[in-house]
Parts: sequence; structure tokens; C-alpha cells
Amino acid sequence: MKTHNFSPESLMMSHGYNHELSEGAVKCPIFQTSTFAFKSAEEGKAFFEIAYGLRDKGPKEELGLIYSRINNPNLEILENRLCLWDKSEDCAVFESGMSAISTVLLEFLKPGDLLVHGNPLYGGTDHFIEHFLTKIGVDVLSVHPDESEEDIIKMIEATGKSANLAMIFLETPANPTNDIVDIESYSNITNHFSTDDKQVLLAIDNTYLGPLWQHPLKFGADIIMYSATKYIGGHSDLIAGAVLGSAELMVRVKNLRTFLGNMLSPNTAWLLLRSLETLKVRMDKQTKNAQQVATFLEQHPIIEKVNYLGLLKEGTKEYNIYKKQCEAPGAMISFDIKGGEKEAFQFINNLKLFKMAVSLGSTESLVEHPNSMTHAGVDAEHKKRMNITDKLIRLSIGVENANDIIWDIEQALATVKSKLILEHV
Ligand SMILES: Cc1ncc(COP(=O)(O)O)c(C=O)c1O
Repeated sequence: MKTHNFSPESLMMSHGYNHELSEGAVKCPIFQTSTFAFKSAEEGKAFFEIAYGLRDKGPKEELGLIYSRINNPNLEILENRLCLWDKSEDCAVFESGMSAISTVLLEFLKPGDLLVHGNPLYGGTDHFIEHFLTKIGVDVLSVHPDESEEDIIKMIEATGKSANLAMIFLETPANPTNDIVDIESYSNITNHFSTDDKQVLLAIDNTYLGPLWQHPLKFGADIIMYSATKYIGGHSDLIAGAVLGSAELMVRVKNLRTFLGNMLSPNTAWLLLRSLETLKVRMDKQTKNAQQVATFLEQHPIIEKVNYLGLLKEGTKEYNIYKKQCEAPGAMISFDIKGGEKEAFQFINNLKLFKMAVSLGSTESLVEHPNSMTHAGVDAEHKKRMNITDKLIRLSIGVENANDIIWDIEQALATVKSKLILEHV
């Protein structure tokens, strides 16, 4: 018989689950248990030796089930399935995207290290870096999408701390502006500063396009992080996070997770297993809708500028990066409305189908105002440089009928337009 490599979407219903171990249940049950019974004291001892790294695993030995803060079948099956999309060796799931991100930063950084981070970042990540990591003595250098590989190498050298560079942390495309950077070029930078004794890590928050449309490990990233609250969960009914990377790095991430106790619950892992079954169909429909919405927005007279990967102009640097590293433009759009906060709020308040809420990647379309909501806490200078202004509006496009979404946007824009006209009469 010929062998066949199934696509990840074909494996989302089965991979990693053995129904014979669960009374033949076709669907994986929720293993709602805090602890697991050992067959013998010897087995318990062997499991702990592996869990605490007291000896290497035998050739076919797996970490046995011990306690749900360390491992649990729902978490492990979810982790195995997430690995398929990004072709990663291992994965760890967390109780939120922020716990995934903060655990990575805490595990791989120590006081005196230098962290380079891109801009803009999700507001929560920005806050953790600028207000927490700096407080415990991590040095931080912030870089921007318009700076070249050579510029950034010079900037790192100019800090005088290049020997302490431990990590570059990026979001691409960035939330909320869809700014895009070349992952491979940043991987060249981490390689430039790595030595035989020290690997400088490249960590990417892939929430905006992953896990379907961008695979950072392929371009030299070492670690990927997700807010699984977004596309992966996809129904705005749970909070979760995930980290992926090599087995060697993930041992460290999982160890810190065990001691911080910020692992995902079995119940939420089960919900995510269900979400993964429809991940591809949801995301395909969302990006198809978003392309239609972006095309509509681009030609509207009271919209100044649309930030959407599907509208990048051929021949530009951004377009070339997009073509190289992304497989679809995604379902996140942001745009500048003519005017300012007043006009932006007028538009948002008049939408009927969109829900006015933060978060993204879900089945329903959402709208928010980054400057006063998700990015309210980001330094004003940074926001200005990244064009996060009071006229910027962010849309997350859902799976509704595209005509309905466009109708809603059109009628809400019409209320702004008539107000603008009245004010100028
Ligand atoms: C790009 C990005 N990363 C991380 C997070 C944080 O994830 P969570 O809310 O699941 O903690 C968010 C949340 O909005 C996000 O948009």
C-alpha cells in the first residue's frame, strides 16, 4: 500500500487520540481529573525521574501521566495537533496568550540580558516588557519595521550590551497596523549575535496569521507563541495560549509552566480540540470575507487608508515579504477614517451586525478602537510613530455573509459622512 501524508485539517479529528483507551468513544472525553493513578510505586518513581529530568528518557519511553499541572491527555492531544500546523517538535498550552508569552520571556531572559522587540506589539505584551521586565533589570531595545537588518545590528551594537542579547521578540503582521517584517532577516540578526555558548532566540507572536497562513519556524524563528483565544479557539468563548518550538526549548517552557501552574485546564483544552476540527474552514471563509471587505473599504471616500495585507502593492518591500512568508492575507483589517476619534466612534456606534469588542479571529465580526482600547496603555510616542492614532479603527472579520458585513460597514460610514457634510454646511 502506498503511504499518504494527510494534511493537518484531515488529522484534526483523530491525531493523538486512541479510542481504545477510552471505552471506544469516538470523541476524546474530558479528562477532568487532577491526578492519575500509577500501576506501581516503581512506575510512579520512573515517571517522576523523567518529569524532573533526573535521567534521560529510554528509547521508547514517554512521560507518564502524573498530575494535571504537569500533564493531562486533553492538553497532550491538543499540543500534538497544534504541532501539525507549524511542523513543530513540541508545544505547550497555557491558560491565556499572555501566560504563554510571559512564560517564554521569563524562562529565556534574566536580569542584565538585552531584549530587542519589534513595534507595534499587542498592548499587554508591550506592558509586560516595558513595565515588568525593565523593573527586574532586563534591558530593552525597541525597533521598528522601517529599520533594515544593518540598521538593527548597528543599534544593538550601539547599546554596548550586544554580548548580553538574549532574544528578539516580534509580532508580524503587527496588531493593529498589519505592519509586516521579514522573519528570515531577523533570524540573520539572531545568528549574527549567537556564539558557540549562546543561542540568541527569535520569538514570534504568530497570533495574527497563524497557525494556517504563516509558519515562522520555516523562516528561522525558534519559538512561536499564540493567543489561542483568537483563531484557534475562534468562537469568543474561551481564553488560552500556546508556545511551539524545538523539543529542547519546549522542555524549559514546560518546566516553568509546571512551577508557575499556568497550564490550560482539561475543559478548555477539550473546547479547543473541538475548535481545531473547523479551524481551516473558518479561517478560509474569514480571509475570503476580509478580502471583499478590504476592497470595499479601499474605494470609500471617507476612508483615508486601509491596512490590509491583501492590498499591498506589487513591487514594494512589504509585498515581497508577504509573498515570501505568508499564505493568505488574513482576516484582520485596520483603517483610518477621515476626521478623528469623534468620527471613529460615530462609525463604531452605528454598526449593527459587528460586535463592539476587543479580541479577534472569531466567527463573529468585531470592531474596536485601538488608540483608546487595546493599545490605550502603549507609550504615546510609540503610538504616534506606529500610526496608531485616534482615527484608526480595527476590524476582525468573521464568517457571516460578506454582503451583510459590507452592508453594515456601508450604512455606518454613511452616518459619519452625513454628519461630516452637515458640519461643513
Ligand atoms: C497579538 C496578540 N498576542 C497576544 C494576545 C494576548 O492573548 P490573551 O488575551 O489570550 O492572553 C493578544 C490578545 O488580544 C493578541 O492580540
